[in-house]
Amino acid sequence: MQKKIIIDYEEFNYDDITDAELKELIDSTIKFADNAYAPYSKFHVSAGLRLDSGKIVKGANMENASYPVSICAERNLLSHTVSNYPNQLITMIVVYVDKDLKVPVPPCGLCRQTLVEVEIRQKYPIQLIMYAKNGTVIRLNSCQTLLPWAFDGSFLD
Ligand code: THU
Repeated sequence: MQKKIIIDYEEFNYDDITDAELKELIDSTIKFADNAYAPYSKFHVSAGLRLDSGKIVKGANMENASYPVSICAERNLLSHTVSNYPNQLITMIVVYVDKDLKVPVPPCGLCRQTLVEVEIRQKYPIQLIMYAKNGTVIRLNSCQTLLPWAFDGSFLD
């Protein structure tokens, strides 16, 4: 039997955003790309999230001369948030790259796996927003949309 997985997402432009909270999170995330430590790739990535308290928390990628030691903006941010705000829900996360690209950059595989773990743990969907410098916004209603057929803790029960 043939089966299919369909990925649902929205695409729109920054200028069409009416949600002030989303705009604020995007603006704040854009600024934070200056905090990336990426001397090797020169690929400055930032991520910003909103907690259910309304607080915004941000992170950036941090590279290392021993390349595999480097950490992506998303996982850097999630580690910090899960450790420092263990009892708060993450409601949305924005990912941004300070580079003239025609399309928004999606989180890498490791980051998708991490996002899914956090979302399952908190039992509340995290909106994932990817933002490109040209104003293109892609929004998914859940991080699990980006990693269908994921491996998760239920297999270890
Ligand atoms: N990077 C991120 O921070 N997030 C992603 O989703 C993709 C890649 C970083 C890792 C590395 O510092 C640089 O971008 C180039 O791969």
